[in-house]
Amino acid sequence: MPFWTACTLPRLASLALSLAKAKLATMRVISLSSLKGGVGKTTVTLGLASAAFARGLKTLVVDMDPQSDASTGMDVIVGRHLNISHLLASPRSSQVKNAIVPSGWTRSHKGTVDVLLGSPSAMAFDSPSLTKREIWRLEEILAAVEDDYDIVLIDCPPSLNGLTRMAWTASDRVAVVTEQGCSLSRRRNEHLEQLMSSGVVCHLGCNPSESL
Ligand SMILES: Nc1ncnc2c1ncn2[C@@H]1O[C@H](COP(=O)(O)OP(=O)(O)OP(=O)(O)O)[C@@H](O)[C@H]1O
Ligand SMILES: [Mg+2]
Repeated sequence: MPFWTACTLPRLASLALSLAKAKLATMRVISLSSLKGGVGKTTVTLGLASAAFARGLKTLVVDMDPQSDASTGMDVIVGRHLNISHLLASPRSSQVKNAIVPSGWTRSHKGTVDVLLGSPSAMAFDSPSLTKREIWRLEEILAAVEDDYDIVLIDCPPSLNGLTRMAWTASDRVAVVTEQGCSLSRRRNEHLEQLMSSGVVCHLGCNPSESL
């Protein structure tokens, strides 16, 4: 699970899109993450989704943050949709396709950009300790749609508890969003220390171009 850290947003968008385009046969999954709140995770997720949509990539945004800001930004018509907490409780593949809804962005432009909505109820799954079965749950959910999308962008909550760990387990890449001026390597090392103490092993790509 390589990390991308030292990237400007346009550079990150370019890396994410080239990764998705290079291997269109395989759905690519990218988590947008940070231990710190309010650093721009959701903004970057929506920016990447917008760039992927504009390039014609079939795009899915998964809102793992109980605050559900990405869901709001994807302009979904309010209704009684299933959301991520329903799927985490019961990851049946028939249920997965029912839960995914088109973004309102497609009302004015053709293409595919869908959302798996977030919910405050997802807090119930944000435990600091997950079973091995639970940690694979989002991977299991996404396996049901692996032929349907080129790129999946996961907006993570600002923590390293269960929801983020499920997201990272399901991801090909993790992009750590940081504030400008912050020590990128220090932030990355914070993630690694916490992950390793939780028993998660990951491969670290310092240079974004190397991880491609
Ligand atoms: N590059 C940027 N420059 C200036 N402001 C930004 C930038 N990116 C995001 N913001 C602003 O920072 C605030 C927080 O952004 P955002 O909600 O994307 O952060 P977040 O990391 O998802 O927060 P949370 O941890 O609460 O989910 C928003 O008001 C957003 O408009
Ligand atoms: Mg957010």
